[in-house]
Amino acid sequence: MGFTRRDFLTRVGQVGGYSAAFASMQVLGLMPMKGEQWKAIEAPPNSGKGTKVVVLGGGIGGLVSAYELRKLGYDVTVLEARSRPGGRVWTGRNGDKIEFADGTTQTIAWKDGNYQNIGAGRIPSIHWTILKYCRELNVQLEVEVNTTRSSLLQNDNANGGVPITQRRVEADTRGHISELLAKCVLQGALDQDLSPEDKNRMFAFLNSYGDLDRANKYVGGSHGLGRSGWKIPPAAGKQVGVVEPPLDMKTLLDANFWANLLFTEEFPQQATMMQCVGGNDRIPYAFAKSLGNVVQYSSPVTSFKRIAKGVSVTYTQGGKEKNIEAAYCIVALPFEILKKIPNDLSAPYQAAVNGSTPSGYYKIAWESRRFWEQDYNIYGGLSFLSQGPSPLWYPSANLMAPTGVFVAGYMEEQGTPFFDMTMEQKFAESRKSVEKLHPGHGAELTNPIYFSWRRMKWNEASWIHNWGGGRTGYNTLIEADGPYYFAGDTVSNINAWMEGAALSAKRVVQMISDKVKTASIATPTKSTFDS
Ligand code: ALA
Repeated sequence: MGFTRRDFLTRVGQVGGYSAAFASMQVLGLMPMKGEQWKAIEAPPNSGKGTKVVVLGGGIGGLVSAYELRKLGYDVTVLEARSRPGGRVWTGRNGDKIEFADGTTQTIAWKDGNYQNIGAGRIPSIHWTILKYCRELNVQLEVEVNTTRSSLLQNDNANGGVPITQRRVEADTRGHISELLAKCVLQGALDQDLSPEDKNRMFAFLNSYGDLDRANKYVGGSHGLGRSGWKIPPAAGKQVGVVEPPLDMKTLLDANFWANLLFTEEFPQQATMMQCVGGNDRIPYAFAKSLGNVVQYSSPVTSFKRIAKGVSVTYTQGGKEKNIEAAYCIVALPFEILKKIPNDLSAPYQAAVNGSTPSGYYKIAWESRRFWEQDYNIYGGLSFLSQGPSPLWYPSANLMAPTGVFVAGYMEEQGTPFFDMTMEQKFAESRKSVEKLHPGHGAELTNPIYFSWRRMKWNEASWIHNWGGGRTGYNTLIEADGPYYFAGDTVSNINAWMEGAALSAKRVVQMISDKVKTASIATPTKSTFDS
């Protein structure tokens, strides 16, 4: 008698319980896969007792490292150059000072309650590690509206420069493509690929996907659904809705016009997207609260080197030079800062760090009446321009408040003329973008702030484009260099996301735990022999 799949699953269930049977069914393709699951660090409780670890940098990589090490009983110190935790996970609020490395400063003057996430702006629902920490640390989350059909697309070279709603571009693009494909099928161009039955299914699909009429033509809102929006909206009394006429294909195909429509198709940009209530720096502050005086602020590292029992790190604090020794060192510093600190990293590690290329994304934020909500029905989401500072990124928090802060320009500026402009010129360009999308409202903008992580003191890059030596450099950095371990989004395959920083931190804590375990087996304590 054969052993059936059902028999197998019953046996798995008997031995391993429901969850084992469930997991087996997933592997066999009988149930949808769950998302990646949180994996706890595998190490015995208190296995870090008596081992000192120094962590360089209090961004997410450094904070998660310290948090996990502490859970295992390690003696940890985090050295952070700034007077706050979080690195690029920072939220600008009234009174905050932006300090560039060249000494330029700006002070935020926004109404209380208005804020801008200067760095990390969104948390994808698939970033289970950082979300697990939010749950564990009681950080309240809300939806970040990453896209809305009410937002706008604009191109100087299309539609006379007049912005078009994403709903219209989306509906008309689908309509035209569906009509063309239906034509191909009707003319027999796809007879090799589609059976007569498949053809019927294809027509049914195109009809629905593209909103085609009975003759398989796209005439725009043919079914009265008004997908692309109303030229005249339906209302009470005799006013029936009149749909927008379809845009012509040439306009829609105009270079770059449609490209930004698709950014939320990328896996990490898909709904549901989240943010912290009150600003994303609630996450580092929650870690910092839990860590207490483990994090030493205003303590920039000035050098580090190997010693017989591990590492020796010098730093300044309160105007004095100090020193700390530890068995292990987690380097979680921005590479542009690490490049300047005298150290004895081995040659391949130096090459991977020193050859890395910094990126220079900026954000310009304005405070204003919420004209995008009040006059355009735009609640959160992003509008894009094909020329000039782009996108406009509207706030998802505090909808309906009278004023808000929004971004007008979030791009790589290195290698563009924008990079060398004065701040006033940049503000003028940003205002022009707002004016193109929302004519007449440029004049309502107040209190601009220009954030540039490439210029920001203690960062000097928004993230990295590549490691020195490319993938080889990366493969070097993910292994320990003697007592040195590397953490941060730059040492993960999820660059420029908190998730990458958190995962790399967990990974190095596991590596250190494994090392400590091996060391304790290799050198048993006297009491082990005595017992
Ligand atoms: N993670 C960054 C963003 O979503 C790059 O904009």
